[in-house]
Amino acid sequence: MKAVISEGYGGEDVLRVEERPSPELKPGSIRIEVTAAALNRADLLQRRGFYPPPPGAPEILGLECAGSVAEPGVGVTDFEPGSRVMALVPGGGQAAEAVVDSGSVIPVPDHFSREEAGAFPEVYLTTHLNLFMLGGLGPEQTALVHGGSGGVGTAAIQLVRAIGARVIVTAGSPDRCRRCRDLGADLAVDYHREDFEALCLDATDDRGVDVVLDCIGGPYLEKNLGALTTEGRLVVIGLMGGTDGKLDMRRLLSKRIRIIGSTLRALSAGRKAEIVDSFLDRFGDALRDGRLRPVIDSVFPIERVADAHRRLASGEAFGKVVLTIGQRSL
Ligand SMILES: NC(=O)c1ccc[n+]([C@@H]2O[C@H](COP(=O)([O-])OP(=O)(O)OC[C@H]3O[C@@H](n4cnc5c(N)ncnc54)[C@H](OP(=O)(O)O)[C@@H]3O)[C@@H](O)[C@H]2O)c1
Repeated sequence: MKAVISEGYGGEDVLRVEERPSPELKPGSIRIEVTAAALNRADLLQRRGFYPPPPGAPEILGLECAGSVAEPGVGVTDFEPGSRVMALVPGGGQAAEAVVDSGSVIPVPDHFSREEAGAFPEVYLTTHLNLFMLGGLGPEQTALVHGGSGGVGTAAIQLVRAIGARVIVTAGSPDRCRRCRDLGADLAVDYHREDFEALCLDATDDRGVDVVLDCIGGPYLEKNLGALTTEGRLVVIGLMGGTDGKLDMRRLLSKRIRIIGSTLRALSAGRKAEIVDSFLDRFGDALRDGRLRPVIDSVFPIERVADAHRRLASGEAFGKVVLTIGQRSL
């Protein structure tokens, strides 16, 4: 089968699309014939040697995929051969076939294209885990989401709106802020020109936001704490801006703030199944009725994976960059 691998570590030129043996089907898992698989920032890091797959995960790139059920494994009764599915994987999503724990699989709604299905699992489940399960965001509350124009950010805008809460995002230009507002953000802060801490306080009558979903890390630490309300939660999922930040611990105590670090990829299959179940309980209706739809920036055939990496790394993408595999439409 065709698969994306990285031959050593480095720039886009280390990427290869090679023939690899089909993965072995295990009890409790499903073989998916993959037709689309989106990129994530983790792919760029893995290619550069900074984010190895967790133990037991394939070296093949890709944290998510979509396609049709080719073969259910022993003990799997809830997915029929031929049905359309999308799935979270710890690696191996960018290949013609993937073997996936059945607990990480979600049925694809009829109105999704293959590209939308391939772009869905990682960013919606990341947002669900971090804003709602760990961050405890409720309907009367306000979230601040950094990187509102990215895959996670665009998913987060839709999910927060789906529960009736308020969402403030940061993005890198007036046009990108406008696109975030068009998607449903209540306020979009151009972080090159504006102070998100001051604007969050202003938008909440000085109360502060309830949860910050942060993918920037060190440089935003102080301002994130300043933007939070009493008993607010800062959930850190990425370190795009750097690892070191200044922390005034008086602020932590006086506001009783919780700081939570989180990575989805390394969690056990059992924990991921709990996240998928919890997501479908809370957002299954919104998924089926069209309120949740991944924002697709661009689509590349798998053979052009290097161009797809360049697009994601350029900082110009808005939403998800997707690879298609084969001619089938899913
Ligand atoms: N821990 C986990 O389990 C987990 C899971 C998924 C993703 N992540 C991480 O979450 C982050 C976002 O993922 P993604 O898929 O959404 O990536 P993405 O699609 O590349 O989006 C990232 C966005 O961040 C914005 N950005 C860059 N610098 C910024 C800054 N200083 N302030 C505010 N925004 C800034 C960029 O938009 P502008 O050009 O508009 O600034 C970009 O659109 C990545 O670091 C990724 O590794 C973590």
